[in-house]
Parts: sequence; structure tokens; C-alpha cells
Amino acid sequence: MTELSRPVAFPQDRTCPYQPPTAYEPLRSSRPLARIRLYDGRTAWLVTGHHAARELLADPRLSSDRTRPGFPAATARFQAARRRRAALLGVDDPEHRAQRRLLVPSFTLRRAAELRPDIQRIVDERLDAMEAQGPPADLVSAFALPVPSMVICALLGVPYADHEFFEEQSRRLLRGPDGADVLDARDRLDDYLGTLIDRKQREPRGEGVLDDLVHEHLNEGAVDRAELTALAIILLVAGHETTANMISLGTYTLLRHPDRLADLRRDPGLLPAAVEELMRLLSITDGLVRQATEDVEVAGTRIRAGEGVFFATSVINRDESVYPDPDALDFHRSARHHVGFGFGIHQCLGQNLARAELEIALRTLVERLPGLRLAAPAEEIPFKPGDTIQGMLELPVTW
Ligand code: HEM
Repeated sequence: MTELSRPVAFPQDRTCPYQPPTAYEPLRSSRPLARIRLYDGRTAWLVTGHHAARELLADPRLSSDRTRPGFPAATARFQAARRRRAALLGVDDPEHRAQRRLLVPSFTLRRAAELRPDIQRIVDERLDAMEAQGPPADLVSAFALPVPSMVICALLGVPYADHEFFEEQSRRLLRGPDGADVLDARDRLDDYLGTLIDRKQREPRGEGVLDDLVHEHLNEGAVDRAELTALAIILLVAGHETTANMISLGTYTLLRHPDRLADLRRDPGLLPAAVEELMRLLSITDGLVRQATEDVEVAGTRIRAGEGVFFATSVINRDESVYPDPDALDFHRSARHHVGFGFGIHQCLGQNLARAELEIALRTLVERLPGLRLAAPAEEIPFKPGDTIQGMLELPVTW
């Protein structure tokens, strides 16, 4: 490794929403590790190499338990959120394994396949409504956000009628102005989902993952109310925000690559490969975080116990030793093994569902709106800052 002389500030904003920040460019020649400086002045490691990333993400000596003293934070929001109980992504084995076991049956490939007709119906209805009101339209508010929001509501058994409330709290959780705002959003979600869980406990069993959890595990004492509420929060937030960002940014990226879009129109069979390649190229969760619990050697470098370790997925997923011509959007390459859904025990629980949603949303959009194009100059369309999940703030389109 050729270590950079001065730590790079992390995270940074992208200049193009589907490219890594230009400030990360030098990190490509310092794989697989670099030093970074965080907002609070602390330094940490940034993993940039693909092989090292998979090795470290699978290493039990790297903890996700954010309550550990000195656990690193990339933002003041995350620092504040450490004060509240987190499920799955915020805990290590064996607690993590026990939580994940409760949910795995609801997120299998087969379950995602069974949901496809419902996803298709939701996608069709959203496009009907968008077409009835446009052109033009804001693809984020008309399509990219409501589709995954409706899907996760139906799957969990959360009333979609409350979507404005929980979408707003998710937005504050991920992009709120400060730590106090994050804690308030988190507490409101806690109240909302805790009350919903209480209601489900009193009422006859409905259809939904939360109903299953209440009636099979809460009532039998396998989980308590606070743990179940924390699980519900991560499922609801992760279940709609990430996928919404992938739909909006994926569409923007396709519209900026008209040849690739034409390929998809000619051959919709390319869609599964296109989804994987977009996941690799866009790397929307660009900054996973862990803390070493013991000294760990990787590629000849020692990460010391207590040090913070971040993973720049946008750089890792463009490691040219794994992906030749890594900046090209190429539906014929094997994008497998990207870390866009993470890796190791915390690898995305919802990935089968997300793939089904992305495939159906993008295929239907491409098929139904052959004239789809941006309704504003590409460079002027606002996207999210680098300290949150990447995606478009708006996406004005016409057709
Ligand atoms: C395209 C959309 C999505 C992307 C890019 C994405 C990305 C990720 C990533 C990178 C991780 C690992 C984080 C880490 O290791 O620090 C993760 C974990 C997780 N994701 Fe997703 N995700 C998506 C969709 C979903 C959906 C639809 C759900 C549905 C509930 C979901 C639920 C979760 C959960 C519960 C975890 C934590 C798993 C654990 O700790 O065991 N995600 N996701």
C-alpha cells in the first residue's frame, strides 16, 4: 500500500451523482486502505480495495455495535443516533444472528418472487397516475419514492396512509440538520411503530411481517417490544429509502447513457444484469462503518483495536483488478460480487426484494414510456449530499 501523506476528509459530496466524489480519485492508487479524517477531527481507515473489503466485512473482529466506546461516526447525525437502540445493523453476533433468524423467512428469494405480481400492480398504478397528470413529472415523488414505500408497507403490515409521516421521519433520520433532529425523528418513529405493534397485539392477526413477529415471537417472549420496534424501524426505513434512491438515480444514469437505455429497450432480458451493474456503479450506500475490537492485519497493514474502519463502496466497486474499465456502465460484464448490498453477516436482508423492485420498476418505465427524457438540464438536477444515501432529490422528466 502506498499510504497517502495526509488523511482525506470523509465523506465528501459527489460532483456527478453516479460517480464517486472526485476527491476520492487519488484513493484508487492507494488501495486497499487509506487514512481519512472525520467531521469531528478523528482519523480512521478507509477501505478502498475489493479483496480487502470482502475480507474485512466478513471478519468478526470488526464490530457493528455502535454503542461501543469510541465507535466512529462519519456525521453528527450518526453520533447522535448511537444513543438509541439499533437492531440488526447496530449489533454483533450472537444478538445479530438471533434477530436475523426471525426475519430471514420473510426475505427469501422465493418470497420476493411471490411478491412480484403485487410489485407490478403497484408500479403500474403509479405510472397510470403519473401519466394521467403529466408530462412533465417529478419521477422521485410520483414514482421512485411511492413504489418501494407501498411495497414495504404491504410487506410489513404498516398502513400506507401514514406514509407522509414515516417518509418525513426517515428523511430527518438520514439527512436532518443536526443530532437533535435525528433523535426527535427516531423517537417519533419509535412511538409510531411501538403503538402499531401494541395494536397488532390486541387485534386479530393481520397479514404482514410485523403481524407474524407479534403473534409468533412477541407473544411467546422471544423478543420484547423495544427490540421489535427497533427491528420495525430498520425494516421500514431501509426498506423504502434505499430502493427509492436506486430507482431515481438508476433512471437518471440510464437517461445519461442513451445507448445503454436503447439496449434495454431492445432486449429487456438484460434487466437483471443491468440492475446488478447499476448497483455496482452507483454504490448508493457509500460509507459502511465498523470498529476493530482486536488488532487486524490486512494486506500488510495493521488496523489496531479500537480504530474505526469505513468502506467506500463507490471506490471498492470500481477496483480495476476485479472490474476492467470500471467506470463504464456495461451490462455484459459480470458485476457479481459487488459490495453494493454489503458483505458478511450484515449483507442486505432485503436484497432479493430490492432486486425484484428495481427490475420491475425499470423494465416497466422503459417499456411504457419510450420517449422518457430529462425535463431539465442534467447538471442542474439536484441530488443528495455525500453524507447520506446517494440519490436524486428531484428528477424532472417528460415523455
Ligand atoms: C437497492 C436498495 C438497497 C440497497 C442499496 C441496500 C444496501 C444495504 C447495505 C449496503 C447493507 C449493509 C450495510 C452494512 O453492512 O453496514 C444493507 C443492510 C440491510 N438492508 Fe438493505 N439495501 C437496499 C434495500 C433494502 C430493502 C428493500 C430492505 C427491506 C427491508 C433492506 C433491509 C436491510 C436490512 C434490515 C439490513 C441490515 C441487515 C443486517 O444487519 O443483518 N434493504 N442494505
